[in-house]
Amino acid sequence: MARKRVAVLISGRGSNLAALIEAAKDSSYPAEIVLVVSNRPQAEGIVYARGAGIATTIIDHTDYGKNRKAFEHALQAVLEGSGIEIVCLAGFMRLLTPWFIDRWKGRMLNIHPALLPNFKGLHTHEQALSAGAKKHGATVHFVTADMDAGPIVCQASVPVQKDDTAETLAERVLAVEHKIYPLALKWLAEGSLRLNEGTCRLHGAHVPDGVTMPTA
Ligand code: GRF
Repeated sequence: MARKRVAVLISGRGSNLAALIEAAKDSSYPAEIVLVVSNRPQAEGIVYARGAGIATTIIDHTDYGKNRKAFEHALQAVLEGSGIEIVCLAGFMRLLTPWFIDRWKGRMLNIHPALLPNFKGLHTHEQALSAGAKKHGATVHFVTADMDAGPIVCQASVPVQKDDTAETLAERVLAVEHKIYPLALKWLAEGSLRLNEGTCRLHGAHVPDGVTMPTA
C-alpha cells in the first residue's frame, strides 16, 4: 500500500517533527513526511527539515495581519498542491478556524504536553506543578474546533518528582512525546485507527506498554 503523504506544521524547535521524520525513515512505516510548513520564518525545525531533504514552506502569519482566513487559504493551497493526506501539528502555535479544521476532519493530529483533559492551553508543565500533580504526560489527539479537546488517540505518563522545575518536567514529557506521536501517526496512516462517533478505536494494532488509549 502506498505510504500516506504527511505534512507537519510547526512554529519552533521541531523535536517532534524530528521524531516523526526519524520514524518515517523506515520504509515499512506507513507514512512519509513530504512537507514541513512553518508560520515562523526563523523556526529551528525548518533547518532540520531542510537538512533531512524534506520540502519546506514558510507561510508567515504576520503577512496576513488579522486575516486568519487568508492565512488558512494559503496553507490549504500548499497542502493540496503537495497532495497531503494527513496533517500533524507539532508545536504549531496558531489557532485554526473551523473552516480549516473541517477540511482535515479525522486526518489532523496534534500533540499536547499534558494528560488531557488536564492542563489545556499553554504552560502545561507550570500548570501541573502548581496543581501538585503526581503524574503528568503527553497526549496525541485529533484536532477539532474545541482547543485541546478533540478525541484522544493515546497518552503516556511520567512521574512528577519533588524537585522538578518546569524545565526538568518538560524534558521528561518530551521523551514520551517522541514515542507516542510516531505511534499515533502510524496507526492513522495504516488505517488501524478510526474515529467512531467521536471516539478513537484501534483495530488490529498493538498498544505498547506505557501507552494508554482511553478506549483500549
Ligand atoms: C511540544 O511540547 C508539543 O507537545 C507542544 O509544543 C512543543 C513543541 O516542541 N505542542 P517541538 O517543537 O516539537 O520540539
